[in-house]
Amino acid sequence: MNHSISLTVNGTRRDFVLDDPRVTLLDLLRERLHLTGTKKGCDRGQCGACTILVDGKRINSCLALAISHDGADILTIEGVARGDQLHPVQAAFIAHDGFQCGFCTPGQIMSAIGLMQEAQAGNDPERIRECMSGNLCRCGAYAGIVDAVLEAQAGADESSQRRSA
Ligand code: FES
Ligand code: FES
Repeated sequence: MNHSISLTVNGTRRDFVLDDPRVTLLDLLRERLHLTGTKKGCDRGQCGACTILVDGKRINSCLALAISHDGADILTIEGVARGDQLHPVQAAFIAHDGFQCGFCTPGQIMSAIGLMQEAQAGNDPERIRECMSGNLCRCGAYAGIVDAVLEAQAGADESSQRRSA
């Protein structure tokens, strides 16, 4: 039996017909939309390489059934830059050498954007480490990643202060 769902992916509405209700958001994004920036690492919820934002919250897309998210708003790594202008988290990762091989990086960046939106880590490096602990990196770039999140968070705090002044 076929199932129809609609998702808004990086600002564009997409309609799908699923012939298998078990298809994950990760496979839908990679195989049907060819958005391969979201990586398949472990495919079992352990590495964070597949992190995306669904309705503003970060999730492991390898564990999420697409059919359960009919109508959802999805943000993937392909949707975070504005044209040539990088997202502040992307710019901070570059500035702090927060990535090396790039396989875990899309998930790290999506997770960092998600945790900033959750506003639960503030400027506490230990809390940032804890909030990012679902995203594994084999190449030891963790120190750069924490510094990048701290810088992006400081920039976000500054611009919200400017807005409220
Ligand atoms: S691929 Fe989803 S958590 Fe590893
Ligand atoms: S930069 Fe390669 S696993 Fe993290």
